[in-house]
Amino acid sequence: MQLKLPIAAFSTTFLLSLGWGLGCGASSELSFECKDSTQPDQGFASCESGLKHRPEIVACQLALPRPGIDCGGGFDPSGCNTDSDCTEAPNGYCVSGQVCYCTYACKTDADCADGQLCECRGSVSACVPAAGCKVDADCPGSICATHLTECGGTGYSCVTDADDCTTNADCKQGQQCLYNGSRRYCGVDTCVEGRPFYVDGHIRTAPLEAGASWSDRDVCRHLETLDLTPGVRQLAQDHYLEMAAMEHASVAAFARFTLQLMSLGAPANLVDESQKALADELRHARLAFGIAERLGVARQPAKLDVSHALDDQSPWNILHTTLMEGCIGETIAAARMLEASLLATDSRLSAALAQVAEDETRHATLAWRSVAWLLRRNPELAEPARQLLARTVAAQLAEPAESESMPREVQPHAEQLGVLSDARGRLVAHEALRHIVRPTANALFSRLSAAGPVQAATV
Ligand SMILES: [Fe+2]
Ligand SMILES: [Fe+2]
Repeated sequence: MQLKLPIAAFSTTFLLSLGWGLGCGASSELSFECKDSTQPDQGFASCESGLKHRPEIVACQLALPRPGIDCGGGFDPSGCNTDSDCTEAPNGYCVSGQVCYCTYACKTDADCADGQLCECRGSVSACVPAAGCKVDADCPGSICATHLTECGGTGYSCVTDADDCTTNADCKQGQQCLYNGSRRYCGVDTCVEGRPFYVDGHIRTAPLEAGASWSDRDVCRHLETLDLTPGVRQLAQDHYLEMAAMEHASVAAFARFTLQLMSLGAPANLVDESQKALADELRHARLAFGIAERLGVARQPAKLDVSHALDDQSPWNILHTTLMEGCIGETIAAARMLEASLLATDSRLSAALAQVAEDETRHATLAWRSVAWLLRRNPELAEPARQLLARTVAAQLAEPAESESMPREVQPHAEQLGVLSDARGRLVAHEALRHIVRPTANALFSRLSAAGPVQAATV
């Protein structure tokens, strides 16, 4: 006998109405409706909202090499103009854009690392992170759908009741639907403001709650009297709260970095500078929470999830974290903050942001010096480090431009408050990658090769 009662949905509604949450194991009762899904193409389909999901697992139908691909005009760090130039592994193809580089397609999930799935993309494909699911059947009552992570990354995870959104359309203007490693939420992809706190490849920040315990009470009091339109005020509030959450997480990043340096036997000057940087980040967080409060929204950080933050403390993992958080993350953050300070028309706000930019620059150089020290101690890690930097820089430069989330009419007013538009933030990041990260990396590796067994090669 088949009941007419939609028991799963009823059960969910019932438990939620009690306000007790779904409880242990009850998440399998989740009901998510993917309206008007398209027919699967190579295992992938899209809901009416545009959300891509995976109803079935089938092998990708690659069509390589593709005719008509010629990347002769772009910067070419790995020597590809056409798909046929990518021969280091099977199914190579040349990603063309501002930067051309080889990548290697997968046919099935077995071709990808643990925790990844093979996403078919027409005639090509790529391995992408899979957080807890690889197909819809892994998500009872729901779907295994794509998500956007900070800094433009993508991956797949179950849509759950804990999610605030599934696509950008669920968020208010200026925000995106982002995944933080456990749930989807509406936020501003600031990407790198201060040192990002990476755990398991995701940037972690604390959720915010009402309160002003972290606000610097003396900062920019005059901002309270600014005459702002509601749209500009909202954008500026969101921006400074995102900055505050990132700076707050940077305190944890430097607390961890101090421990990492000590675990490696680092000299006292590096440990001392890490501790001073932690104090800087605390000040930046209080500044940003303070500015947000002056702009009309008083928030403070709730609990920061630090679980697994110290799980892997091998020299390679510490090096990897320092390269991503410090050498790339803080270098771009410093450049963006400097741009923001120059855009801000209010002299006191501009001076406060300029001080942050100066601090972030010092933190970025600390990261590069720490990496140099670490590579002198572990020269066998130099080539993997060079490859990681080359790959990351190339990938970030090649990311397609997303649509501008900041409405054009508020853009000049928001930028006067130090809030960068998406296009400006991206441009600053690209400039920092091209003109700071890449030359610094090349100088580092040429110094290392002059001093020892490390091979000279460029990033
Ligand atoms: Fe900072
Ligand atoms: Fe920093």
